[in-house]
Amino acid sequence: MNGLKLLATGRCLPAAAVTNEDMRRYVDTSDEWITTRTGIRQRYFCAEGENALTLASGAARQALADSGIPKEELGCVVCATVSADYATPSLSCLVQAELGLPEEIPVLDLNAACSGFLYAVAVARGLLAQNGKKYALIIGCEVLSRLMNMSDRSTCVLFGDGAGAAVFEAGPDFPFYALQGARGDKAILANGPGPLAPDLSMDGRAVFRFAVEALPHCIQGIQDQSGLSLEKIDWVVCHQANERIIDHCVKKLKAPAEKFYKNMARYGNTSAASIPIALDEMNRDGKLKPGQKILCVGFGGGLTWAAALFTI
Ligand code: UT7
Repeated sequence: MNGLKLLATGRCLPAAAVTNEDMRRYVDTSDEWITTRTGIRQRYFCAEGENALTLASGAARQALADSGIPKEELGCVVCATVSADYATPSLSCLVQAELGLPEEIPVLDLNAACSGFLYAVAVARGLLAQNGKKYALIIGCEVLSRLMNMSDRSTCVLFGDGAGAAVFEAGPDFPFYALQGARGDKAILANGPGPLAPDLSMDGRAVFRFAVEALPHCIQGIQDQSGLSLEKIDWVVCHQANERIIDHCVKKLKAPAEKFYKNMARYGNTSAASIPIALDEMNRDGKLKPGQKILCVGFGGGLTWAAALFTI
C-alpha cells in the first residue's frame, strides 16, 4: 500500500482564549495548580456563533488552500471528533457542503477520542488505496466545552475547543508506519450515556497511568516496524494532554526532549484536534522541513492509542 506525505496543514480556534485565572469564575482552582499539574495556561471555548462546523471548515479551508490541490482531486474526507454538531449529518458532510467538496468520494466522521486523528490517517490511507485517488483531507475537531461539567474542577480545567486539518498525498515512495489499539473501558474516561451531555467524567490518575504506558508502547512499536531509532526521526508529536505525561515518557525512553513538541500551554487538551493543531503550529513556525520524518502518537478515551510515522 502507498505511504502518505503531509502536504499542508490548517488550524482554527475560537476567538476567545480562557486563561487559568479565568477558570476561577467556574471552579475553586488556581493558575499554580493547573500549570504545575498539566502545563496548561489557557484554552479556547466556543462562544455564540462558533461551533464544530466553523472550526472544522476554517481549518480545512486553510489546509486545502495551502496544499494547492484543486478540491476536485480530493479522494476522501475523514473527520475525527467526539463532539460534532449533529449525530447526523456528520461533521465531515457539513464541511463537504460548506467547502463545496466533491461528491463521489467517502466522507465520514470517526470516533477514537484523543487518538482519533491518527486513526483517521490510517483509515484515509486505506480509502485512497481502495479508490486509487491521491489526496486525503483529514480533520480533528472538538468542541469539548459542550461535554464538560463546568463545576467539576478535576476535568473542566483540562480541555479546550479547536480544530486542525491536514492534506496528505499518497505515493509509493513515502515512508509510512502506523499502529492502532484499544481497550474498551467506560470507568476511566466517559461522556454519556447520550450524546453531548455536559457530564464528562474521568479518573485522572488512571488515565495518567494508562498514558505513560501507552506512549512508550506506541513509540517502541513504530521503531520496531520501521527499524528507525529516535535519532533518525525529526519530531515526535504526542497528543497534548498534559506536559507531565510527555516528560515522563521522555525520561522513560531516555529520549531527546527537544524532539517532543509541546503546545498544551496555549490550547489545553483538544482531544482529536491536538495533533493536527500542533502540526499546523510547527508548520507555520517553519519547524517542518521537506524530507523530515514525524512520529505522531495519540492516547485517550475508549481507551484507545495510535501512532503514525510519515514524511513531509
Ligand atoms: O486525553 C486524556 C485526558 N486525560 C488526562 O490527560 C488526565 C491525566 N491525568 C492527570 O493529568 C492528572 O491526574 C490530573 C492533572 C488530572 C490530576 O492531577 P493529580 O495530581 O492526579 O491530582 P488528584 O486528582 O489526585 O487531586 C489532587 C488534589 C485533590 O485535592 P485533595 O483531595 O488532595 O485535597 C483534588 O481535589 O487536587 C485537587 N484538585 C484541584 N485543585 C485545584 C483537582 N482538580 C483541581 C483543580 N484546582 N482544578
